[in-house]
Parts: sequence; C-alpha cells; structure tokens
Amino acid sequence: MQKITIAIDGYSSCGKSTLAKALAQKLGYNYIDTGAMYRAATLYALENKIIDENDNINIKALLKALPKIEVEFEVNPKTHNSDILLNGVDVERDIRTMKVSGLVSKVSAIKEVREKMVALQRLMGKKKAVVMDGRDIGTHVFPKAELKIFMIADPDVRAKRRQDEFSSKGQYFTIEEVEMSLLKRDMADISREESPLTQAEDAVILDNSELSREEQLEFVLKLIADLQFISREEQSHH
Ligand code: DC
Repeated sequence: MQKITIAIDGYSSCGKSTLAKALAQKLGYNYIDTGAMYRAATLYALENKIIDENDNINIKALLKALPKIEVEFEVNPKTHNSDILLNGVDVERDIRTMKVSGLVSKVSAIKEVREKMVALQRLMGKKKAVVMDGRDIGTHVFPKAELKIFMIADPDVRAKRRQDEFSSKGQYFTIEEVEMSLLKRDMADISREESPLTQAEDAVILDNSELSREEQLEFVLKLIADLQFISREEQSHH
C-alpha cells in the first residue's frame, strides 16, 4: 500500500489524538502529537519562570530560550505510547495539566515558537507514513497531505470527555470549568494571526459527537481505502 500523510485538525478535545493513535497503530505509521510540542514549550517557560505568577509571558526571554528547548518523541516501553521528551525528560504527564492547558494558546500564538515547531514537524513527517494531529497540519504544515480530516464535536460532549480524562489522572474540575477552558482555547486558536485553526478546503469533516472510537476509525479507514483505489485507477489510465 502506498504510504501517505494523514493530517488531523480540529477544535480542542474532539478526540483527535484518540483517532490518530488508533490509525497509526492500525497502519503501522508514526503518530506525531503536535499539541504536545507546544505544551512542552509552555512547560519549559513555566519551569524557567519565563511565565510569571500572573501568567504574563516574558516574550524576549522566551525567544532567547527557544534554541534550548529540545523536543522529541520516544516510545514508552511500558505503555507503547509515543511520549514527548523535553530536553531528554519524559514530560507526557506534566504537559496535560489545567495550568499548561490555560497557557498553551498564548505560547503557541508566538510566531517564532510556531516556526521552530513547524520546521521540526516537517522533518518528522518527511518520509510520509505519518499521522499528525494539531490545528494547522492540513493548512500549513502539510498542505499537500493526501488525507485531511477536520474533527468537530458537540462542546458538551467534548467537555465531558476532557473532564473524565482529568479525573482519571486525579485532577477534578466541574464540567463548567472544563467547558470554559475549552471554549477559551478554541477562541484563541481560531483568532490568532499566525496560522490560525481553520478547516482546509479539501478536508473531510468528521463529527464524532455520536460516534464510538471504532466507528470513527472505520470511517477513516474507508476513506483511505477509497484513496488507494482512486490512485490505482489514475495510474492505470496513464
Ligand atoms: O491538541 P492540544 O490540545 O494538546 O493542543 C494544545 C494547544 O496547542 C492548542 O490549544 C493550540 C496549540 N496548537 C497549535 O497551535 N497548533 C498545533 N498544530 C497544535 C496545537
């Protein structure tokens, strides 16, 4: 089967990473969680007091520190997940806090931060056979990706899923708190100047408000099978 690039974009907590991981596993592809890269940069800024206690970012200090922020992915032998490392340390858990979630949109709106991460993402996806999820993958990182999915879901469903995810890690928030945080992040992501979250013209919309994990996986596998069929048809006509 021909190796392709799969770009998955959409709002926060629509289940992008769940779908991306399942696809990568099924196809034997690499999974790249680009949100984790912006979260890791945010964690670095917090740990190094580049963000103060009032949540103000010292942009000058952050730009100066950028070359020192090294992110990479490594398979965790216990979970078989592809974990993110920040300067060699596994921070997969530390980047998923409400604190980081509340600040990551500000950090990811900074042009130089985006340029650095996008360059890394293009390098990681150079050989295709990759599933990448984020906000600007189909529009900016890989505008020529063979398959682009734009995920949407009902805000109540998204908030409930995220609340469950937090509580499974011992972090407890009300549904209103979680929904507020999600919607605030969506607003920031669609309204920023640098490659904002928007649906690529050639993306397929996937609304998973009422789909199970299996159903959404089936849906996308069918799209991939159709793509392979179309490309075979095209080849036979040349
Ligand atoms: O997917 P996530 O919730 O972990 O992403 C965290 C934040 O990072 C999200 O609110 C916006 C930003 N982000 C981005 O700007 N571009 C991407 N490709 C991925 C994430």
